[in-house]
Amino acid sequence: MRRLDQYLANLGYCSRRQAREWVEAGRVTVDGRVADNFGAKAAAAAVAVDGAPLDHPGALLLLLHKPVGLVCSHDEREGPSVYSLLPERWRRRNPAVTSIGRLDKDTSGLLLLTDLSPLVHRLTSPRHKVPKVYRATLDRDLAPDLAARFAGGTLLLEGEQEPCAPAAFRALGPREAELTLTEGRYHQVRRMFAATGSTVLTLHRARFGDLELGDLPPGQWRELELNTFAPGEGAVSSG
Ligand code: URA
Repeated sequence: MRRLDQYLANLGYCSRRQAREWVEAGRVTVDGRVADNFGAKAAAAAVAVDGAPLDHPGALLLLLHKPVGLVCSHDEREGPSVYSLLPERWRRRNPAVTSIGRLDKDTSGLLLLTDLSPLVHRLTSPRHKVPKVYRATLDRDLAPDLAARFAGGTLLLEGEQEPCAPAAFRALGPREAELTLTEGRYHQVRRMFAATGSTVLTLHRARFGDLELGDLPPGQWRELELNTFAPGEGAVSSG
């Protein structure tokens, strides 16, 4: 149970001050009766604004097909972001909807978004070793020793002391490969290929744990059940 003005402000309807005005203007009902006290507590399911139930009062978990050209940052100075794809109201929620890990501006593919910060921490923690599958096209033919180099657990990225964890590599074509990582270092796929002398031309994340994009077009998202990552649900193995 939360206060009416908190629901409206935290779910992105309006500011806390406006929420009080909305209640006083009779726009908010509890169990169908017009509320007259913005500080009154109510169950989310009982509250309606302008006759409509509250917009996702629980939490959001979204699977987005990130297109190239958008950043995963809330900082507007970094350019257009994935958050621009979401409904306005969701962009004003508190806690904020944020990405679970990031994809570079030039990388497309599967990106999870949520306002559940414990989930962000759990799924980005190196301890959980969530497998993430990337498809890359390269500027030159794949060297025959790439699978061994990526799987070896000794590959060093420029400027780092700690070698990359073993990564599974699969050639898909002469200049196209799939790489499965259980870490999430900055620009990791591009830097791993750079460490072997090749340049990634295009990069796409095809899977995150057991999740795939399916036929979701770039720029579109779909909601996931909040229990998708409940321990023991199998979407992500923590081994
Ligand atoms: N590795 C990269 O280089 N970029 C990404 O966006 C993700 C993984």
